[in-house]
Amino acid sequence: MRMYDIILKKRRGLELTTAEIDFFIDGYTKDEIPDYQVSALLMAIFFQGFTEREIGDLTMAMAESGEQTDLKSIPGIKVDKHSTGGVGDKTTLILGPLVAAAGVPVAKMSGRGLGHTGGTIDKLEAIPGFRVALDNAAFIEQVNRVKIAVVAQTGNLAPADKKLYALRDVTATVDSIPLIAASVMSKKIAAGADAIVLDVKVGSGAFMKKSEDAFNLARTMVDIGTRVGRKTVALVTDMDQPLGYAIGNALEVKEAIATLKGQGPKDLHELCMHLGSEMLVLAGVDKDTAKARERLEKIIFEGQALEKFKEFIVAQGGDPEVCSKEGLLPPAEIIYPVSSLEEGYVTEIDAEQIGLAAMSLGAGRATKDAAIDLSVGLVLKKKIGEGIGKGEIIAELHAAKGQELLGAEDMVRNAYTIGHNKPAVREIVLGRV
Ligand code: URA
Repeated sequence: MRMYDIILKKRRGLELTTAEIDFFIDGYTKDEIPDYQVSALLMAIFFQGFTEREIGDLTMAMAESGEQTDLKSIPGIKVDKHSTGGVGDKTTLILGPLVAAAGVPVAKMSGRGLGHTGGTIDKLEAIPGFRVALDNAAFIEQVNRVKIAVVAQTGNLAPADKKLYALRDVTATVDSIPLIAASVMSKKIAAGADAIVLDVKVGSGAFMKKSEDAFNLARTMVDIGTRVGRKTVALVTDMDQPLGYAIGNALEVKEAIATLKGQGPKDLHELCMHLGSEMLVLAGVDKDTAKARERLEKIIFEGQALEKFKEFIVAQGGDPEVCSKEGLLPPAEIIYPVSSLEEGYVTEIDAEQIGLAAMSLGAGRATKDAAIDLSVGLVLKKKIGEGIGKGEIIAELHAAKGQELLGAEDMVRNAYTIGHNKPAVREIVLGRV
């Protein structure tokens, strides 16, 4: 078999066989097929697409390219959750302890941020002392004892996805439905959960900009999960503005803590309730999402979610005092207000631009190995639908001393559209698959 023939076949729009897909994934994982040939194939897939069968084969080849986590020694139904990536998305920090407090074991591997989107592992590292690396035995022991452990994805879990994702990121082939579906589902399958809740983002801050594409992606992933015997549900959710108000690692931890105390932003709380309810139903804790939601609201109200978060922090070596003393999270050296040049109502916020502004302050990384500053980012003061006066503050930049701020200030201002008419109220969940 030759890689050249596989590229040509896909370029001509023909269907690849299981053997051809296995050959390309195996050869690429072992460094036997060079980046330039895989790049050409990715671009051919981007334009010609993949059939359902091809997507399923690609997913399984990627899932089986490295180790697969065995969670059988954790009793109960293990439910995983995955977001396709957004701006200000700190839901895992809230949902993990929340559903763990409801008795669902959370054995989660998370990623770091890349590009304009953030990652849970970077956020957790903003908590002083927090360890994101646990060996497998410690990981399992912690889930059994505390009901929750969140660790960085090990090098050998779906290694084909690691290599392919990095290559897609630099070859303009990220926003392809078959490639995203196989990337997400290969990791989820290899990570070993029994059931999966997917948060498929749509809008200016998401990879899927159009609702139709997001629903297609959601259906594709649910089909893959179902076919391999994992109960899978997807919610398509709004990413046409950042989630919550905080963007940047320490700032997002602060907002997650407020949400665990029942004092978080409405959209973030609402999304966590929806995703968490689906997780509880899949885990068999509740029969329907209405009952599950009641349970989750109560867990927050009675302080059990926050207590579980503290327990989780202690188990991974972090300082739980961050929950009461905000100053323990790394503070930015400078807080710089961005004011509005117009008055009216906020009608749009380009979430990708906001993510890029946070990144330009050092909150995110442009390349895999770039260093980040956990203290920086931005806090929005206005979201869609809110009124604003000329000169009123729309956002605060949290930055390091001596940092050039004008670029980020312009990006934030340009990300906002101010109009005369108050826009309609938006729903955070747009549909369920
Ligand atoms: N998240 C993933 O894990 N993979 C993608 O391809 C896109 C989002």
